[in-house]
Amino acid sequence: MNARLMNADLLITGITQMATPRGAGAKRGSQMRELTVIENAAIAITDDRFAWVGPAGEWSGAAAHTVDLGGRAVVPGLVDPHTHAVWAGDRLADFDARTSGVSYEQILASGGGIWSTIRATTAASDEELVSLAEQRVWSLARSGATVVEVKSGYGFSIRGELRMLEVIRTLASRLPIRIVPTLLIHIPPAEARERNAYLDQVQSDLIPEVARRALAQAVDIFIEKEAWNAAEAESVLTCALEHGLRIKVHAEQFHSVGGLELALRLGALSIDHLEACTPRQYELFRNSPTIATILPGVSLHLGIPKAPGRPLIDAGAAVAVGTDLNPGSSPLFSTSAALGLAVRLNGLTAAEALVAGTVNAAHALGLTDVGRIEAGAQADFGVLHSSDWRDLIYCMGANPVREVWCKGQRIASEKDATAAERREREDG
Ligand code: NIG
Ligand code: FE
Repeated sequence: MNARLMNADLLITGITQMATPRGAGAKRGSQMRELTVIENAAIAITDDRFAWVGPAGEWSGAAAHTVDLGGRAVVPGLVDPHTHAVWAGDRLADFDARTSGVSYEQILASGGGIWSTIRATTAASDEELVSLAEQRVWSLARSGATVVEVKSGYGFSIRGELRMLEVIRTLASRLPIRIVPTLLIHIPPAEARERNAYLDQVQSDLIPEVARRALAQAVDIFIEKEAWNAAEAESVLTCALEHGLRIKVHAEQFHSVGGLELALRLGALSIDHLEACTPRQYELFRNSPTIATILPGVSLHLGIPKAPGRPLIDAGAAVAVGTDLNPGSSPLFSTSAALGLAVRLNGLTAAEALVAGTVNAAHALGLTDVGRIEAGAQADFGVLHSSDWRDLIYCMGANPVREVWCKGQRIASEKDATAAERREREDG
């Protein structure tokens, strides 16, 4: 709409740079570099949506309120498309074991790792789980995330997974940001007979109930030597599709066991991890709607190979980035830091990382109304301390994000961050 004719609720000014992807579609290959940067921008908001965005000099509508950001860069609210934010206990003993040379897979095979988190999560109360997760998701939100996917997967029984999804529902009701719940079929029982019985129950009881109660939007499964094989995953994912749920996978983390090809064939929203993805497989993403989600915190924390972000983009894939926040493979509590790691570890440019953490991450969750600052999209954005948007990616170890806005409301602010500002206040 022409800015001259517009009446908005709120006008945001004092924006040195507004950086955003354009258009609701996933960006693939060279499109991932096409970031729009508007200098001296203004943003108009009505209700919970962006109403107008452009150079401040072109705004001539009327706004009920104005907020002047005082010369700072603005980026879209980040989308974190992969977390396991609900857990109890810790994995500090694993960390010690791993740093003394025992591998993540050895720890898992000997009954530790994910198994220990399942035991601690099962022993915790619902309220304990909600409040632990609440603090973690707030940490992601303060780092710029306004949409966060949260998986079940430490329940390890039909009842346990349903309880985790109920906890995620309570969590969502306590937070101002959007939580996207996913049912994760994580690891199988050790005994072959129990394994088949669990798989049957997942398909006959768990998935139908999750679909009926709308407890999750997608079903994810861990396809790996130490987890489920491709044939088992196919039956679970097909069942999910038959119940109207979307699908995604943890695949090619340590080994290629057919997970990637299966997920592409079934039209998964995303394939997540990809540390073991090979050049022959990059090409398979070229004309596929499936998003390649990379999780650099895992490579950093476990010391495993880095997912081939650069060659995947060069082959035409649409790449997204997430934290994979979890106690075992990625205790990374900052969505913006995940983007910075994707540049340093996976070879993305800063512009590609921002696209990967916004519009492409939204697509990995099947969402098209978030992840960009454009008229009509949900009014989610981050205000940086800096006047240059690239500080979102560049900064390490401190939070580059000063304010977070979700649905047109400021939900977090770090206004007192610098000594210079404190002095300014005291003097003034
Ligand atoms: O995404 N790979 C499997 N699942 C998680 C880790 C969960 C855990 O270690 O507790 C992941 O890396
Ligand atoms: Fe994961």
